[in-house]
Amino acid sequence: MKVTVVGAGAVGASCAEYIAIKNFASEVVLLDIKEGYAEGKAMDLMQCASLNGFDTKLTGVTNDYSKTAGSDIAVITSGIPRKPGMTREELIGINAGIVKSVSASLIEHSPNVILIVVSNPMDTMTYLVHKTTNLPKHKIIGMGGALDSARFKYRLAQALEAPISDVDGMVIGGHSDKGMVPLTSHATRNSIRVSEFLTAERLQQVAEDTKVGGATLTKLLGTSAWYAPGAAVSGLVQAIACDQKKIFPCSTYLEGEYGLEDICIGVPVVLGKDGIEAIVDVPLSDAEKAKMKESAEGVTKTNGLLEL
Ligand code: 2OP
Repeated sequence: MKVTVVGAGAVGASCAEYIAIKNFASEVVLLDIKEGYAEGKAMDLMQCASLNGFDTKLTGVTNDYSKTAGSDIAVITSGIPRKPGMTREELIGINAGIVKSVSASLIEHSPNVILIVVSNPMDTMTYLVHKTTNLPKHKIIGMGGALDSARFKYRLAQALEAPISDVDGMVIGGHSDKGMVPLTSHATRNSIRVSEFLTAERLQQVAEDTKVGGATLTKLLGTSAWYAPGAAVSGLVQAIACDQKKIFPCSTYLEGEYGLEDICIGVPVVLGKDGIEAIVDVPLSDAEKAKMKESAEGVTKTNGLLEL
Protein backbone atom coordinates (compact mmCIF):
# COMPACT_ATOMS: atom_id res chain seq x y z
CA MET A 1 0.00 0.00 0.00
CA LYS A 2 1.60 3.24 -1.18
CA VAL A 3 0.29 6.55 0.11
CA THR A 4 1.37 9.99 -1.07
CA VAL A 5 0.84 13.09 1.03
CA VAL A 6 1.22 16.34 -0.90
CA GLY A 7 2.20 19.27 1.31
CA ALA A 8 4.72 18.71 4.11
CA GLY A 9 3.35 21.55 6.23
CA ALA A 10 1.84 20.95 9.63
CA VAL A 11 -1.27 19.07 8.44
CA GLY A 12 0.59 16.96 5.84
CA ALA A 13 3.40 16.04 8.23
CA SER A 14 0.98 15.19 11.03
CA CYS A 15 -1.03 13.05 8.62
CA ALA A 16 2.16 11.21 7.47
CA GLU A 17 3.16 10.69 11.10
CA TYR A 18 -0.19 9.16 12.11
CA ILE A 19 -0.23 6.93 9.02
CA ALA A 20 3.29 5.71 9.84
CA ILE A 21 2.56 5.14 13.52
CA LYS A 22 -0.55 3.09 12.67
CA ASN A 23 1.78 0.86 10.62
CA PHE A 24 -0.68 -0.26 7.91
CA ALA A 25 1.03 1.27 4.85
CA SER A 26 4.28 -0.06 3.42
CA GLU A 27 5.29 3.29 1.92
CA VAL A 28 4.48 6.97 2.42
CA VAL A 29 5.84 9.62 0.06
CA LEU A 30 5.76 13.17 1.35
CA LEU A 31 5.99 15.82 -1.38
CA ASP A 32 6.44 19.57 -1.04
CA ILE A 33 7.46 22.41 -3.33
CA LYS A 34 9.91 23.88 -0.81
CA GLU A 35 13.40 22.53 -1.59
CA GLY A 36 14.48 19.88 0.91
CA TYR A 37 11.54 20.43 3.27
CA ALA A 38 9.70 17.14 2.67
CA GLU A 39 13.02 15.27 2.69
CA GLY A 40 13.77 16.78 6.11
CA LYS A 41 10.34 16.00 7.55
CA ALA A 42 10.46 12.43 6.21
CA MET A 43 13.95 11.86 7.64
CA ASP A 44 12.90 13.24 11.05
CA LEU A 45 9.82 10.99 11.01
CA MET A 46 11.85 7.92 9.94
CA GLN A 47 14.12 8.50 12.92
CA CYS A 48 11.02 7.88 15.08
CA ALA A 49 10.53 4.42 13.57
CA SER A 50 12.60 2.44 16.09
CA LEU A 51 11.22 4.56 18.94
CA ASN A 52 7.58 4.29 17.97
CA GLY A 53 7.78 0.79 16.52
CA PHE A 54 6.71 1.18 12.90
CA ASP A 55 8.05 -0.23 9.63
CA THR A 56 6.38 2.17 7.20
CA LYS A 57 9.02 3.59 4.85
CA LEU A 58 8.73 7.36 4.59
CA THR A 59 10.49 9.32 1.87
CA GLY A 60 10.42 13.01 1.07
CA VAL A 61 10.64 14.60 -2.37
CA THR A 62 10.78 18.15 -3.70
CA ASN A 63 8.07 18.50 -6.33
CA ASP A 64 9.03 15.28 -8.16
CA TYR A 65 5.74 13.55 -8.94
CA SER A 66 7.49 10.62 -10.65
CA LYS A 67 8.35 9.43 -7.10
CA THR A 68 4.62 9.23 -6.30
CA ALA A 69 3.96 6.80 -9.19
CA GLY A 70 1.79 3.84 -8.33
CA SER A 71 0.19 5.45 -5.27
CA ASP A 72 -2.99 3.73 -4.11
CA ILE A 73 -4.12 6.75 -2.09
CA ALA A 74 -3.00 10.39 -2.23
CA VAL A 75 -3.82 13.16 0.20
CA ILE A 76 -3.81 16.80 -0.95
CA THR A 77 -3.02 19.19 1.89
CA SER A 78 -1.23 21.80 -0.20
CA GLY A 79 -2.22 25.44 -0.30
CA ILE A 80 -2.27 28.22 2.24
CA PRO A 81 -3.86 27.74 5.67
CA ARG A 82 -6.15 30.37 7.15
CA LYS A 83 -4.92 33.06 9.52
CA PRO A 84 -6.91 34.30 12.53
CA GLY A 85 -10.11 36.09 11.42
CA MET A 86 -10.12 34.49 7.96
CA THR A 87 -12.82 32.14 6.72
CA ARG A 88 -11.90 28.99 4.80
CA GLU A 89 -13.72 30.46 1.78
CA GLU A 90 -11.24 33.35 1.54
CA LEU A 91 -8.50 30.90 0.54
CA ILE A 92 -10.18 29.91 -2.71
CA GLY A 93 -8.18 32.05 -5.17
CA ILE A 94 -4.73 30.69 -4.39
CA ASN A 95 -5.75 27.18 -3.36
CA ALA A 96 -7.88 26.41 -6.43
CA GLY A 97 -4.90 26.79 -8.78
CA ILE A 98 -2.71 24.66 -6.51
CA VAL A 99 -5.28 21.87 -6.03
CA LYS A 100 -6.01 21.71 -9.77
CA SER A 101 -2.37 21.26 -10.75
CA VAL A 102 -1.53 18.91 -7.85
CA SER A 103 -4.47 16.59 -8.64
CA ALA A 104 -3.53 16.51 -12.34
CA SER A 105 0.11 15.64 -11.54
CA LEU A 106 -0.92 12.92 -9.08
CA ILE A 107 -3.30 11.28 -11.56
CA GLU A 108 -0.74 11.47 -14.36
CA HIS A 109 1.58 9.21 -12.33
CA SER A 110 -1.08 7.15 -10.51
CA PRO A 111 -4.14 6.82 -12.76
CA ASN A 112 -5.89 4.48 -10.29
CA VAL A 113 -5.34 6.64 -7.24
CA ILE A 114 -7.99 7.47 -4.63
CA LEU A 115 -7.71 11.18 -3.78
CA ILE A 116 -8.43 12.69 -0.37
CA VAL A 117 -8.79 16.47 -0.48
CA VAL A 118 -7.97 18.45 2.66
CA SER A 119 -7.10 21.91 1.25
CA ASN A 120 -9.65 24.63 1.99
CA PRO A 121 -12.33 25.62 1.20
CA MET A 122 -12.51 21.82 1.22
CA ASP A 123 -15.96 21.12 -0.24
CA THR A 124 -15.27 23.47 -3.15
CA MET A 125 -11.78 22.01 -3.69
CA THR A 126 -13.34 18.52 -3.78
CA TYR A 127 -15.87 19.77 -6.35
CA LEU A 128 -13.00 21.29 -8.35
CA VAL A 129 -11.21 17.92 -8.46
CA HIS A 130 -14.47 16.29 -9.53
CA LYS A 131 -14.94 18.80 -12.36
CA THR A 132 -11.37 18.94 -13.62
CA THR A 133 -10.20 15.31 -13.48
CA ASN A 134 -11.53 12.08 -14.95
CA LEU A 135 -11.51 10.18 -11.65
CA PRO A 136 -14.79 8.42 -10.83
CA LYS A 137 -16.69 10.09 -8.01
CA HIS A 138 -16.09 7.25 -5.52
CA LYS A 139 -12.37 8.00 -5.74
CA ILE A 140 -12.67 11.68 -4.78
CA ILE A 141 -13.11 12.19 -1.06
CA GLY A 142 -13.17 15.47 0.87
CA MET A 143 -11.96 15.36 4.48
CA GLY A 144 -13.96 17.61 6.80
CA GLY A 145 -16.75 15.73 8.52
CA ALA A 146 -14.39 13.23 10.17
CA LEU A 147 -12.55 16.12 11.80
CA ASP A 148 -15.70 18.09 12.65
CA SER A 149 -17.24 14.96 14.18
CA ALA A 150 -14.14 14.43 16.34
CA ARG A 151 -14.48 18.03 17.54
CA PHE A 152 -18.19 17.45 18.18
CA LYS A 153 -17.42 14.35 20.28
CA TYR A 154 -14.81 16.33 22.23
CA ARG A 155 -17.35 19.06 23.04
CA LEU A 156 -20.08 16.52 23.85
CA ALA A 157 -17.78 14.61 26.22
CA GLN A 158 -16.92 17.88 27.98
CA ALA A 159 -20.58 18.82 28.37
CA LEU A 160 -21.54 15.31 29.52
CA GLU A 161 -18.47 14.97 31.74
CA ALA A 162 -18.14 11.53 30.15
CA PRO A 163 -15.20 9.71 28.54
CA ILE A 164 -14.99 10.38 24.80
CA SER A 165 -15.05 6.63 24.10
CA ASP A 166 -18.64 6.57 25.47
CA VAL A 167 -19.75 9.34 23.09
CA ASP A 168 -20.84 9.05 19.48
CA GLY A 169 -21.92 11.80 17.13
CA MET A 170 -21.60 13.04 13.59
CA VAL A 171 -21.34 16.36 11.76
CA ILE A 172 -22.56 16.57 8.17
CA GLY A 173 -22.87 19.51 5.76
CA GLY A 174 -20.19 21.90 4.55
CA HIS A 175 -16.81 22.17 6.30
CA SER A 176 -17.31 25.83 7.21
CA ASP A 177 -18.12 27.79 10.36
CA LYS A 178 -21.68 28.40 9.21
CA GLY A 179 -22.24 25.28 7.11
CA MET A 180 -21.59 22.44 9.58
CA VAL A 181 -24.64 20.51 10.70
CA PRO A 182 -23.90 18.69 13.99
CA LEU A 183 -26.54 15.95 14.28
CA THR A 184 -27.38 16.50 17.94
CA SER A 185 -30.60 14.46 17.66
CA HIS A 186 -28.57 11.36 16.70
CA ALA A 187 -25.70 11.84 19.17
CA THR A 188 -25.47 9.25 21.92
CA ARG A 189 -23.74 8.46 25.20
CA ASN A 190 -23.40 4.70 25.36
CA SER A 191 -26.43 4.23 23.07
CA ILE A 192 -28.59 6.71 25.04
CA ARG A 193 -29.53 9.93 23.25
CA VAL A 194 -27.52 12.84 24.67
CA SER A 195 -30.77 14.85 24.98
CA GLU A 196 -31.50 12.60 27.99
CA PHE A 197 -28.53 14.18 29.77
CA LEU A 198 -28.22 17.71 28.38
CA THR A 199 -30.68 20.58 28.07
CA ALA A 200 -31.56 21.90 24.62
CA GLU A 201 -29.59 25.08 25.44
CA ARG A 202 -26.46 23.13 26.43
CA LEU A 203 -26.73 21.02 23.27
CA GLN A 204 -27.09 24.16 21.20
CA GLN A 205 -23.89 25.49 22.82
CA VAL A 206 -22.08 22.23 22.01
CA ALA A 207 -23.18 22.56 18.38
CA GLU A 208 -22.05 26.21 18.19
CA ASP A 209 -18.65 25.42 19.77
CA THR A 210 -18.21 22.56 17.30
CA LYS A 211 -18.94 24.74 14.28
CA VAL A 212 -16.24 27.25 15.22
CA GLY A 213 -13.84 24.47 16.27
CA GLY A 214 -11.30 25.30 13.55
CA ALA A 215 -11.62 29.09 14.01
CA THR A 216 -11.12 28.74 17.80
CA LEU A 217 -7.84 26.91 17.21
CA THR A 218 -6.72 29.31 14.47
CA LYS A 219 -7.16 32.17 16.93
CA LEU A 220 -5.17 30.36 19.64
CA LEU A 221 -2.41 29.05 17.36
CA GLY A 222 -2.12 31.90 14.84
CA THR A 223 -2.60 29.37 12.04
CA SER A 224 -4.86 26.46 11.31
CA ALA A 225 -4.81 23.28 13.45
CA TRP A 226 -2.90 20.13 12.47
CA TYR A 227 -3.05 17.27 15.00
CA ALA A 228 -6.77 16.49 14.69
CA PRO A 229 -6.83 17.18 10.91
CA GLY A 230 -3.86 14.80 10.49
CA ALA A 231 -5.48 12.15 12.69
CA ALA A 232 -8.79 12.47 10.82
CA VAL A 233 -7.09 12.01 7.43
CA SER A 234 -5.15 9.01 8.70
CA GLY A 235 -8.46 7.45 9.80
CA LEU A 236 -9.86 7.78 6.28
CA VAL A 237 -6.66 6.44 4.70
CA GLN A 238 -6.66 3.45 7.06
CA ALA A 239 -10.34 2.69 6.37
CA ILE A 240 -9.56 2.52 2.64
CA ALA A 241 -6.19 0.76 2.93
CA CYS A 242 -7.55 -1.90 5.30
CA ASP A 243 -10.96 -2.15 3.57
CA GLN A 244 -12.64 -1.46 6.91
CA LYS A 245 -16.10 -0.44 5.58
CA LYS A 246 -16.23 2.24 8.28
CA ILE A 247 -18.72 5.10 8.15
CA PHE A 248 -17.34 8.64 8.18
CA PRO A 249 -18.99 11.85 7.04
CA CYS A 250 -17.01 12.89 3.94
CA SER A 251 -17.51 15.40 1.17
CA THR A 252 -18.66 13.55 -1.92
CA TYR A 253 -20.37 14.39 -5.21
CA LEU A 254 -24.14 14.12 -4.80
CA GLU A 255 -26.62 13.32 -7.52
CA GLY A 256 -29.94 13.54 -5.72
CA GLU A 257 -28.93 12.07 -2.34
CA TYR A 258 -30.15 14.27 0.53
CA GLY A 259 -32.15 16.16 -2.10
CA LEU A 260 -28.93 17.73 -3.44
CA GLU A 261 -27.39 17.72 -6.92
CA ASP A 262 -24.11 18.82 -8.51
CA ILE A 263 -22.36 19.56 -5.24
CA CYS A 264 -19.68 18.02 -3.02
CA ILE A 265 -20.72 18.25 0.63
CA GLY A 266 -20.37 16.18 3.79
CA VAL A 267 -22.65 13.17 4.18
CA PRO A 268 -22.03 9.79 5.85
CA VAL A 269 -20.30 7.34 3.54
CA VAL A 270 -18.91 3.80 3.83
CA LEU A 271 -15.15 3.76 3.19
CA GLY A 272 -13.46 0.61 1.91
CA LYS A 273 -10.90 -0.50 -0.67
CA ASP A 274 -12.75 1.23 -3.54
CA GLY A 275 -12.99 4.56 -1.72
CA ILE A 276 -16.58 5.66 -1.18
CA GLU A 277 -18.51 2.39 -1.42
CA ALA A 278 -21.93 3.75 -0.39
CA ILE A 279 -23.64 6.92 0.72
CA VAL A 280 -25.64 6.37 3.90
CA ASP A 281 -29.06 7.96 4.09
CA VAL A 282 -29.65 9.24 7.66
CA PRO A 283 -33.20 10.33 8.49
CA LEU A 284 -32.98 14.04 9.32
CA SER A 285 -35.41 16.15 11.36
CA ASP A 286 -37.07 19.08 9.56
CA ALA A 287 -34.67 21.49 11.32
CA GLU A 288 -31.65 19.43 10.22
CA LYS A 289 -32.97 19.26 6.65
CA ALA A 290 -33.33 23.05 6.60
CA LYS A 291 -29.77 23.47 7.95
CA MET A 292 -28.43 21.06 5.32
CA LYS A 293 -30.18 23.02 2.57
CA GLU A 294 -28.74 26.29 3.86
CA SER A 295 -25.29 24.71 4.11
CA ALA A 296 -25.53 23.49 0.50
CA GLU A 297 -26.50 27.00 -0.65
CA GLY A 298 -23.31 28.32 0.99
CA VAL A 299 -21.12 25.69 -0.70
CA THR A 300 -22.78 26.31 -4.09
CA LYS A 301 -22.11 30.03 -3.71
CA THR A 302 -18.41 29.34 -3.05
CA ASN A 303 -18.32 26.89 -6.00
CA GLY A 304 -19.56 29.78 -8.15
CA LEU A 305 -16.23 31.55 -7.51
CA LEU A 306 -14.32 28.77 -9.30
CA GLU A 307 -13.13 29.40 -12.84
CA LEU A 308 -14.06 26.05 -14.37
C1 2OP B 1 -9.60 22.74 10.30
O1 2OP B 1 -10.81 22.85 10.48
C2 2OP B 1 -7.74 22.50 8.67
O2 2OP B 1 -9.96 23.08 7.98
C3 2OP B 1 -9.15 22.44 8.90
O3 2OP B 1 -8.78 22.79 11.24
